Amino acid sequence: MLPLLRLLQDGRFHSGEALGAALGISRAAVWKQLRSLEAELELPIHKVRGRGYRLASPLRLLDECLLASSPSGQAWPVSVLHSVDSTSSEALRRLEARNAAPFIVLAERQSAGRGRRGRTWVSPFAENLYYSLVLRVEGGMRQLEGLSLVVGLALLQAIRAMGVSGAGLKWPNDLLVGDRKIAGILLELSGDPADVCHVVIGVGVNVNMMPTEAQPIDQPWTSMRAALGHGVDRNELVVALNQQLARYLESHRKQGFSALREEWQNNHLWQGRRVVLTAGGQQIAGVVLGVDASGAIRLLVDGEEQHFSGGELSLRLSNDS
Ligand code: BTN
Repeated sequence: MLPLLRLLQDGRFHSGEALGAALGISRAAVWKQLRSLEAELELPIHKVRGRGYRLASPLRLLDECLLASSPSGQAWPVSVLHSVDSTSSEALRRLEARNAAPFIVLAERQSAGRGRRGRTWVSPFAENLYYSLVLRVEGGMRQLEGLSLVVGLALLQAIRAMGVSGAGLKWPNDLLVGDRKIAGILLELSGDPADVCHVVIGVGVNVNMMPTEAQPIDQPWTSMRAALGHGVDRNELVVALNQQLARYLESHRKQGFSALREEWQNNHLWQGRRVVLTAGGQQIAGVVLGVDASGAIRLLVDGEEQHFSGGELSLRLSNDS
């Protein structure tokens, strides 16, 4: 199906005959594949008698060859999948099958994209970025401290390099434009963190999905396209993200999170704001002071500084903030 989609991605009309000739299949087989594209990927295709078929809107697919040859400052092998349950699940499966890290798994679509705290990550075909980078971690827990916050900084710089100037960070690792989420990060570990282990850095960015599209997302969201007023080539975003990650991960590996802490705080949208932290069933109200050298959030709670960390925590602005 993908070769057919590549022919159609320009959004122009192609006759069934020309498509069949290019793919070496019959017109009937072209028609069958077109029906599958529409049904499985929910891609509307226009059919006009005498002109042929075209996608309702042009697409720019992820291009594995282009990404493999782009000079992004490091050599992380990239695999682009057409459809997968979750790029991070696929990355974990590849680790189990003894694929050597580092490597990146990208997909055009996820059928079971995962967010933090058991949430679903909505992942429609060819619209957004679903990216999982696997790294080998040899320095024990120290190499993991603040890592997800550093990934947030790298992602923020990549999004800014693509022109989105109004984005910022929300602890622990959301990217927001105003109060709307544009991207999220999910880190998962495989192996023994006290010894040699692997970390799967899952990054989801709302790229070309528009808030006018009804999506089952249970929090306010936006996209790069909505922020910029034009569509974004996801291949360019991958290159920018790889460049920034290579730079920030190197700094984190050499100097730890403490060297990046101030930069992180300078980009934290909720610095100094009144918030409520949810930890299990508990709700803790406080004022955000910043983060500590391990990436834990520092809150002023009833006049006393307290630090909180852990994947299940979440922060929201207090109603009187
Ligand atoms: C969050 O809840 O904010 C984290 C979202 C992380 C989503 C990405 S998309 C690529 C990777 N694969 C997944 O299943 N999840 C992460």
